[in-house]
Amino acid sequence: MQQPSRRHASLASGVGLRLPHLVEVVATRPAAAWLEIHPENFLANPHAAELLAEIARHYPISVHTVGVSIGSAGGIDRAHLARVARLIDAIDPVLVSGHLAWSTHAGEYLNDLLPLPYDKDTLALLARHVDEVQQALGRVYLVENPSSYLGFAGSTMTEVAFLSALAERTGCKLLCDVSNIYLSGHNMGFDAHAYIDGLPADAIGELHLGGFTAEDDPDEPGGTLLVDTHADRIAEPAWDLYAYALRRFGEKPTLIEWDNEIPPFATLLVEAARADTVRAQALSPEVRRAAVG
Ligand SMILES: [Fe+2]
Repeated sequence: MQQPSRRHASLASGVGLRLPHLVEVVATRPAAAWLEIHPENFLANPHAAELLAEIARHYPISVHTVGVSIGSAGGIDRAHLARVARLIDAIDPVLVSGHLAWSTHAGEYLNDLLPLPYDKDTLALLARHVDEVQQALGRVYLVENPSSYLGFAGSTMTEVAFLSALAERTGCKLLCDVSNIYLSGHNMGFDAHAYIDGLPADAIGELHLGGFTAEDDPDEPGGTLLVDTHADRIAEPAWDLYAYALRRFGEKPTLIEWDNEIPPFATLLVEAARADTVRAQALSPEVRRAAVG
């Protein structure tokens, strides 16, 4: 299988590129290390696709799919996958990723990333679908851990065990969304550090950081639910968990995600610069010695 591309993702942090910033990025060529796009934004938008082709000549691009529903029991939408494959062939991205979730059913696209039960049958289904995606794209696919608000009583595996087995069985890599781990740990009552400890470091191909929003928990008076809105700066505890993840996994390409209430592009670059600073500190010899000691 073709490995990611002649180019390589920079270890400096990248930012998500959304439609409101396309023209600015073409016109001003800001100093972003790399950019991550959602292919679904470009498949039916020829003008945006033209701008993306221009941008891809100057920046490493990561393709983060939101409509390739590897968790759908009814199978992958092959027509959609073929459209994504054509875009990928055109821009030669450094990374290609998607979610451990499902978002289509019976030909309907649901604008949500919905959860899966973690058991043997689901693992077999997902492994078949990841194989199919990797074959169709000719690339290693990275699978991202979800943000969680509920679980299935019938699950027989932890999410970490499920992701680890999926990576081992298919050769896919994992996209570790550190913010998702923090907010899911809060919502589901698990230890975020233990979750990171359990992931296979060798399989981690990318890290995500995104802003979340605290809302009243409808099921727990006085409680809060953290919602993965991608509508804010990265929260302080997520930065702390990011430093922990770096010490566990080593240097990995990191991406700042911001999809709603999108700020000026310069604000994204400030967050990426902070990620670079946190990484330099977390991986400094002094901090590593202290962490081990
Ligand atoms: Fe993410």
